[in-house]
Amino acid sequence: MELVEGKVAFITGGARGLGRAMALRFAGEGADVAIFDICRDVPGLGYTMSDRAQLDEVAGQVRALGRRAVTLVGDVRRAEDMQRAVEQTLSDLGKIDIVVANAGVSSVGDAWELTQEEWDAVIGVNLTGAWITAKFTIPHLIARRQGRLIFISSGAGLGGRSKLAHYCASKWGVIGMTKSLAIDLAPYRITVNAVCPASILSGLNTGMARHMGIPVEQLVGEWMKLQLIQEMIQPEDLAAAVVWIASDEARYVTGHALPVTAGASM
Ligand SMILES: NC(=O)c1ccc[n+]([C@@H]2O[C@H](COP(=O)([O-])OP(=O)(O)OC[C@H]3O[C@@H](n4cnc5c(N)ncnc54)[C@H](O)[C@@H]3O)[C@@H](O)[C@H]2O)c1
Repeated sequence: MELVEGKVAFITGGARGLGRAMALRFAGEGADVAIFDICRDVPGLGYTMSDRAQLDEVAGQVRALGRRAVTLVGDVRRAEDMQRAVEQTLSDLGKIDIVVANAGVSSVGDAWELTQEEWDAVIGVNLTGAWITAKFTIPHLIARRQGRLIFISSGAGLGGRSKLAHYCASKWGVIGMTKSLAIDLAPYRITVNAVCPASILSGLNTGMARHMGIPVEQLVGEWMKLQLIQEMIQPEDLAAAVVWIASDEARYVTGHALPVTAGASM
């Protein structure tokens, strides 16, 4: 028996990085996947987001695993984009069982040097975007009186991080939303959890390092010093935790923020 056989997973920011690994793992465990991504850059940040070709590549991989895939282009900050994406998913895949609010962005800098545009981009995508994702998918989960809502927070949502005040604020905010929604959605048998990765090589870290003019190994190396196990966590490690939380095996796990940090959040 596969972990999420016959389910439909809706994943934001799924065209690359952790979202891509989750989409492939969900498909490998028997789920159809709706993959939502912006496919254009976010003003105020110094690195590029995914493009249409990357989104299509993930969908192709999902189909190669024998599952259905829907590609959805939109911005998690825009309610109309999310509403359209949810409607298209319901029309193409029939339902949504699992929602993963994964789309996220960052920059690195002292809080007092950030531009307003930078602050708004990070809070807008990571926190407001997670709320918009929840807002338009929850009514469907409630109607079916079941579901899994999973927010991708961060080790930076469990502690402070130098030069990441804006990112930490967004990721702590996501955990507050997780715990509140877990209370409100329990009567409908919907679990709500956050998963908190430590530093993992992805478009986010490589893009930020390029923008800062330093090797990505230097950037993630600083954060890796916090880990008790000094090994690079892979996107697939995060995907494994997310798929388990989405599975029936985790039906009584709700309101948690699960660190996948090799001990960095102790
Ligand atoms: N990589 C890490 O080290 C790390 C650590 C902790 C938490 N996280 C979190 O994991 C999540 C995934 O990050 P990643 O490392 O895979 O980054 P990534 O940059 O590789 O992927 C993020 C994806 O989100 C998309 N996206 C960005 N803004 C969007 C928007 N407004 N609307 C829709 N899609 C948008 C991008 O195009 C991209 O495909 C994020 O929430 C991030 O904060 C990552």
